[in-house]
Amino acid sequence: MIDGKKTMLSGMQSTGIITLGNYLGALKNWVNLNEEEDIKCFYGIMDLHSITVRQEPANLRKSARTLLLLYIAAGLDPEKNCIFFQSHVPAHPQLAWILNCYTYMGEMNRMTQFKDKAAKHADNINTGLFTYPVLMAADILLYQADYVPVGKDQMQHLEITRDIANRFNGIYGDVFTIPEAYIGKSGARIMSLQDPTKKMSKSDENPNATISLLDDKDTIMRKFKKAVTDSDGFIAYSDDKPGIKNLIDIYCAVTSKSVDEALKESDGMGYGQLKEMVGEAVVAELVPLQERFEALSKDKEYIDKIIKENAEQASYYANKTLRKVMKKVGFTELPR
Ligand code: TRP
Repeated sequence: MIDGKKTMLSGMQSTGIITLGNYLGALKNWVNLNEEEDIKCFYGIMDLHSITVRQEPANLRKSARTLLLLYIAAGLDPEKNCIFFQSHVPAHPQLAWILNCYTYMGEMNRMTQFKDKAAKHADNINTGLFTYPVLMAADILLYQADYVPVGKDQMQHLEITRDIANRFNGIYGDVFTIPEAYIGKSGARIMSLQDPTKKMSKSDENPNATISLLDDKDTIMRKFKKAVTDSDGFIAYSDDKPGIKNLIDIYCAVTSKSVDEALKESDGMGYGQLKEMVGEAVVAELVPLQERFEALSKDKEYIDKIIKENAEQASYYANKTLRKVMKKVGFTELPR
């Protein structure tokens, strides 16, 4: 709770492209939350998390700023929500250090995302990658978040956040709000266009597998045309037909229509026509977003002002929690 309002925090790592899957699974849900006046929302550009995998400095800088612009272009109002760069709020790594001392190796060893990432980056299994969930716990607990909208793959990290918070509260009294998962209206899980049994992932090596939010119209249509389906030749919404199911899920998520409506509209179509229908719906959703993105890219002054003001706002709330924690733990207060 902050100022009598329920509080929500979420964020994405600023690495590489942002995909249609990130958008439909997370960002679009956050935008729907914009309308809920009684929830105070914080959205982080989690750039400290990004360096758990080696980054080219220029790319990191560029993708962090791009992510901010995409948040705003997608409809997150930076005047109503606090949208900030994690690296601008030193309280995040400060609290993460403290929480590291209340987290067990055994707990971190069980994190499935760590195991996956360690296998993928076997040449750079750094301790930041290992304690990544503790930094994520700090992100959430600093803002006393009641709700955290997360997908399935982040559920384990939210659970460990709750465990750490409960452990800390058990020792020192009520310091942290215990966060709950927030399940949005359309928690769409979008699959790869090339292997519809796998989640659409920004790190996929095949560019045809993903749609970037900044792909142009022709690229989007071409990628949908190439989408892998099956050889049955009829449209049905079923787990046995993951390619077709994914296309319908994408269509429903961008148009806010039901599966029944989508099936009615595509009745009698061939796969080629279905792909065209879905591609056009995605283009209709992304083109206006891209136009807003372009306009924002030209307004450096406005964006700089947003970055500065929101970093100050985030720091204000984060420091409040950090000061409380430091006092509880027993650190000496700086004499005034
Ligand atoms: N780990 C999240 C992801 O990869 C990003 C993230 C970092 C996050 N800190 C967070 C998400 C805090 C929710 C809350 O998607």
